[in-house]
Amino acid sequence: MNEYPRPYKTIQTPLGDCNIYTIQSSFLDKFKRFDCGEEEQNDFIRRLAVGHYLAGINHTFLLVCGNDLVGFVSFSSYSFEFTGEAKNEMISGLKEEFTNRGLPHEIEISFKKLPVLLLGQLGIDKKYQGKGIGSALVKRFVIPYSLNYCIENSCIGLLVYTRTAKDFYEKLGFEKIYESKRGTNYFYSLYKNVLRARQDAFSSK
Ligand SMILES: CC(C)(COP(=O)(O)OP(=O)(O)OC[C@H]1O[C@@H](n2cnc3c(N)ncnc32)[C@H](O)[C@@H]1OP(=O)(O)O)[C@@H](O)C(=O)NCCC(=O)NCCS
Repeated sequence: MNEYPRPYKTIQTPLGDCNIYTIQSSFLDKFKRFDCGEEEQNDFIRRLAVGHYLAGINHTFLLVCGNDLVGFVSFSSYSFEFTGEAKNEMISGLKEEFTNRGLPHEIEISFKKLPVLLLGQLGIDKKYQGKGIGSALVKRFVIPYSLNYCIENSCIGLLVYTRTAKDFYEKLGFEKIYESKRGTNYFYSLYKNVLRARQDAFSSK
C-alpha cells in the first residue's frame, strides 16, 4: 500500500498497472530525483511544474508505478496560428471530409488562432526508457484525455511541440503541421480523432 491519494486513472503499461495522479504535494520529494536525460523536461518537473500548476498555466499529471515516479505529462490550453499551406490544407481537408459524409461544410475562420490543447512537456525517467512506457502513457492516457478535453471544451485537437522526439510522436500517429525554417522546432498534431468524435455525435440518432 502507498500513502498517496486516489489516482486520477490507472493504465496498463509494460510495468503492469500504473497510476496517473494530478500533481500534488505528496510527490514533491520525487521531482528532484527525476531524470529523463533532457535538461528542458528535467528543469520543468524539478523547478517549474508546481508553480505553473498553481498559477493555472498548465496541468501536470504524474505516472507512478509502485512507488516510483516513472514519468509525467503536462498540458496547457493554447491557441495556435495555422498559417499558409497548413491552414489551407486543414480547411480544405475538413470541407472534403464533411462533404463526403454529407455534413454541412461551410467553414469561415475569421480569427487567426485556433484553440488547441498543448502537450507542453512529457518525460519518462531514464531508468524506464525504451520499454514502451512513453507509448503506453500517450496511447492510454494522453490521447483519451485530450479527446475528452477537446470535445468538452471546444478545441480542435492535441498539439505537441518538440525538438527532440519527432519520431516518437510520428510513430504514435501525430502529423507534422509546422517546422521552423532551421528544422529545429516542430509542431505535431492529433486532431482527426476529435473531428471524428464530433461528427459521430452530430450524426447520431
Ligand atoms: C521521448 C520519451 C518520452 C520516450 O519514452 P520511452 O518510454 O522511452 O518511449 P517508448 O519505449 O515507448 O518508445 C516508443 C518508440 O519511440 C521511439 N523513441 C523513443 N524515444 C525517442 C526519441 N527521443 N526520439 C525519437 N524516437 C524515440 C522508440 O525507439 C520506440 O520505437 P519502436 O516502437 O520502433 O521501438 C523519453 O525518451 C523521454 O523522456 N525523453 C526525454 C524527454 C523528451 O524528449 N520528451 C519529449 C518532448 S516533450
